[in-house]
Amino acid sequence: MKKITVPIIGSMKNKEKIVMVTAYDASTAKIVDESGVDIVLVGDSVGNVIQGLSNTLAVSVDEMIYHTKIVSRGIHNAHLCADMPFMSFQSSNEDAVKNAGRFVKESGAESVKIEVTEDYIETIREIRKAGIPVMGHIGLRPQSVHNMGGYKLQGRDKDEGAKLVALAKKIEDAGAFSLVLESIPQKLAKKITRSINIPTIGIGAGANCDGQVLVINDLVGLSEEPLPKFVKKYAEIRDLMKRATEEYVDEVRTGSFPSKEHSYD
Ligand code: KIV
Repeated sequence: MKKITVPIIGSMKNKEKIVMVTAYDASTAKIVDESGVDIVLVGDSVGNVIQGLSNTLAVSVDEMIYHTKIVSRGIHNAHLCADMPFMSFQSSNEDAVKNAGRFVKESGAESVKIEVTEDYIETIREIRKAGIPVMGHIGLRPQSVHNMGGYKLQGRDKDEGAKLVALAKKIEDAGAFSLVLESIPQKLAKKITRSINIPTIGIGAGANCDGQVLVINDLVGLSEEPLPKFVKKYAEIRDLMKRATEEYVDEVRTGSFPSKEHSYD
């Protein structure tokens, strides 16, 4: 397998689907890298998935750098993208460039992702000017959960949809190398995908995006229910772990573990 780079990701548009998945630790990163994914995203979803928070807002730059650094140790082929957490780029473009630089210097990230509105087009330009590739993220933007009044489908009406198409074009013009479309109607995702030359990567945005992303704990069935409609569980790891642990509890309590086989003479 070859190393996936930003130019390779760009060249995949209209040729092959891009597969992205999240990871937050080295052992999971090694498994997903060996499975052949194109991009590993260290999402700020680490807040919900690993830290047990109800949203991503409290996740810090230092925490993201720690998780990206350990994920990087498990990756050989996939491209490594790090999510810039809430208030790591919103305060000023100077902070944005400084923090994006920290991701590259301290964690091994090869690109950064930012949740974009009209207000952050210049931010993309500035980070890119520093030589750091930027992935945009529009539609449902979890860092704006309070403004949006919850985790809701975005771009449902015509006006909102047209605004997202225009925003996607601006993000492309500012130099982003790819764009995440989260929780928008599939028709709108198709329209955006066809109207720009950089790849779109969908989550809850239907089949017509150039690629797909899922949170690893959701796709392997490790996350607690209920899950969003767009999640497909490819395994039931939560049940498996629970059953294995229950068996271990039982065997320790009854004295059947450790047996001779698991003991030293
Ligand atoms: O934080 C995250 O995991 C994400 C993806 C779901 C796109 O932003």
